Amino acid sequence: MINIKMSAIKACIFDLDGVIVDTAVYHYKAWKRLANELGFDFTEEDNEKLKGVSRVRSLELILQWGGVTKTDAEKEELANRKNEWYVEMISHMTPAEILPGAKEFLETCRAAGLKTALGSASKNSMTILNKINLAGLFDAIIDGNHVSKPKPDPEVFLKGAEAVGVPPANCVVFEDAIAGIEAAINGGMKAVGIGSPQVLTKANLVVSGLDKMNLEKLNAL
Ligand code: G6P
Ligand code: MG
Repeated sequence: MINIKMSAIKACIFDLDGVIVDTAVYHYKAWKRLANELGFDFTEEDNEKLKGVSRVRSLELILQWGGVTKTDAEKEELANRKNEWYVEMISHMTPAEILPGAKEFLETCRAAGLKTALGSASKNSMTILNKINLAGLFDAIIDGNHVSKPKPDPEVFLKGAEAVGVPPANCVVFEDAIAGIEAAINGGMKAVGIGSPQVLTKANLVVSGLDKMNLEKLNAL
């Protein structure tokens, strides 16, 4: 008897920063400028810890690392200042900045009849998707403007699944952050890590980038 395993996956949900594009460098430059203005330094190692972390939470962590206390009103002003610098930088992004294989894998998914959704903590995701000309490859776009609970809460991915009409058990999430992998698992979804297997230990599968992803691997999840 031939045993053909039918894939249960009907939708792919993608994180943006670190999966589709590498905006971490822009976040880094903007946070570093802010930290320097406040009188302390901010390293690339610090920046690594902010992957997948919301803007407000990132600021709180940075102030904590710098040993600086601010009022809520001051924090809002600082977060806005950082975002203005960040938005200026991403306004120059082009499709050349799409990470290897991301566009091709999105097209492969759609050609196979799978639904595609974006699930990002960023409130700037539409700006980025428009700059890199990828908005049209997503059936649904859920980002930091639509959610109140940050990853590892599964809210962003559950809303994505709902928007494309696929139950969580039939969804797979592509994520580069530990909190994002946890959010997928907390939502009852499969998780593919983008990065290192030593870091993304809870993922069902880890690849170095979407250029290493294909339908065979998806069907085997
Ligand atoms: C992503 C990035 C984080 C960033 C967050 C919010 O999750 O990995 O580094 O802080 O989005 O981005 P935003 O564009 O709303 O400031
Ligand atoms: Mg990310």
